[in-house]
Amino acid sequence: MVGREREFAALQLAWRAAGRMVLVRGSAGIGKSRLVRELAERVRAAGGTVLAGRCSPTAADVPFRPLREALLAAARTGLRPSAEVAPFLPSLGSLVPEWVAARDASLDGGAIVLAEGLLRLMVAWSSPEVPALLVIEDMQWSDRETINAVEYLADNLAGHPALVIVTLRGGEPGPGADLMEALHVRRAIQPVDLFPLEPAQSEVNGARYALPCRRRWKLFIQASRVAPASWPPASPSRRACASVPLTCGSRRPAAR
Ligand SMILES: Nc1ncnc2c1ncn2[C@@H]1O[C@H](COP(=O)(O)OP(=O)(O)OP(=O)(O)O)[C@@H](O)[C@H]1O
Ligand SMILES: [Mg+2]
Repeated sequence: MVGREREFAALQLAWRAAGRMVLVRGSAGIGKSRLVRELAERVRAAGGTVLAGRCSPTAADVPFRPLREALLAAARTGLRPSAEVAPFLPSLGSLVPEWVAARDASLDGGAIVLAEGLLRLMVAWSSPEVPALLVIEDMQWSDRETINAVEYLADNLAGHPALVIVTLRGGEPGPGADLMEALHVRRAIQPVDLFPLEPAQSEVNGARYALPCRRRWKLFIQASRVAPASWPPASPSRRACASVPLTCGSRRPAAR
């Protein structure tokens, strides 16, 4: 990953501290998923549990779409709920069939019981030194049930060795964005905003190989900064919205 040192440091600190929800916001393609993926790799490398799922514009009517994906993937890798989570198995089992006994299959406590079960599961799969990480991507496309569960988690994570990171694409209104705004206003989430590049950066992108690698790296670092207090941020210039140059190759640019 190029640049984004400050934002990455903010995520690492949040993971170490745990007991909170972080919101990574920014425009399409700015690097939200990439940033969060880097943290997830760190967590896995430290032996931690990572759960990850995403909302989808084609599945806004699928209840718990990202939570289903996160838990099914965990089950696929062999993770199993431990004994202390047993009372929540009927609810969790509504998302992961192999976790529920046939006789319990009809029990379902709705979004709040499911969110509590998920929280207990994360705590059971964590240690104070290595908190579990849950990533919910693209909250702008969230289904209603996930919105209820996310709000519950934001309000109940404090004091537990678990971190939840939600990503949100800016400028896409909807219930998911509304919830994030409401949580931000009442300080129930910690925002980390990704901003477009400075104009100098777009020049770097245009002349991808024209500058020495060290100079391009410096420009990236200048363009990376952690969120200001207000959201949405002041509208960035169009030039500043140019995409990130991603490589530090040693090739010379082709002659124009
Ligand atoms: N800092 C970075 N260093 C290297 N590559 C990056 C960086 N940021 C983003 N990229 C690359 O740019 C592309 C778009 O990034 P990414 O998917 O993370 O954007 P996004 O903000 O999640 O977009 P969306 O709103 O569509 O989900 C990816 O190929 C990603 O690997
Ligand atoms: Mg993304």
